[in-house]
Amino acid sequence: MRHKLLVGNWKMNGSLAANVILLNGLKAAALKPERDIAVCVPAPYLAQCQSELSGSRIGWGAQDVSAHDAGAYTGEISVSMLRDFGCRFVIVGHSERRIYHGENDAMVAEKVQRALANGVTPIVCLGETLAEREAGKTAMVVCRQLDAVLAASGADDILGMVLAYEPVWAIGTGRTATPQMAQEVHALLRAQLAEKNPHAAGRVHILYGGSMRPDNARELLQMPDIDGGLIGGASLNAADFLAIADAA
Ligand code: PGA
Repeated sequence: MRHKLLVGNWKMNGSLAANVILLNGLKAAALKPERDIAVCVPAPYLAQCQSELSGSRIGWGAQDVSAHDAGAYTGEISVSMLRDFGCRFVIVGHSERRIYHGENDAMVAEKVQRALANGVTPIVCLGETLAEREAGKTAMVVCRQLDAVLAASGADDILGMVLAYEPVWAIGTGRTATPQMAQEVHALLRAQLAEKNPHAAGRVHILYGGSMRPDNARELLQMPDIDGGLIGGASLNAADFLAIADAA
């Protein structure tokens, strides 16, 4: 049985003052035991999350990690630095990184390996653009993206990963994939995991992301292969994020 996992992706939002209000709102909530929640925040706020959330049931993490261990990589943040701040998760290969920062499948695969090797759970983002969906290429695109990650991984590595299916056309647009559309892709991804490791495939969390809100979360989260959400806009408000966790 996979517990539902709800992860907030703050993207480039927040301030020390606003974060206190949001984190206190999350901490005050009585979370059901079968829900896991976490926030992935801008790197400067990891120390704040560590001090505010240590000892709570809420996990935290970052939104990207370097593919390198250390050295002359100006602006990059290593996985050991994320560990210093208690990160449990790191988002890898978000479409905004792929589109605006030129991350390709090979780079994403390297980052996933770096995170896994250092005990931080990568949340590996996969998803097609609107043009790709309309051209009937959804399955091809997400399988290619996952294949790059799996090709660089050992069979047991799968147990350390979380996947997030995030159709690019649904991110921040208010357009959500229907539960059936999302379920179809999630089942496909799980079948692809099973080819590599049948035992692990049933245990891996596959999150849905893309305009998940309190009013559409329940029907998405009821689908058999949707194990939680990666939530952008709605995670910036404690009441909305918790309402999604409640819907799970
Ligand atoms: P959204 O973002 O919920 O604002 O659509 C999701 C994401 O990009 O992770």
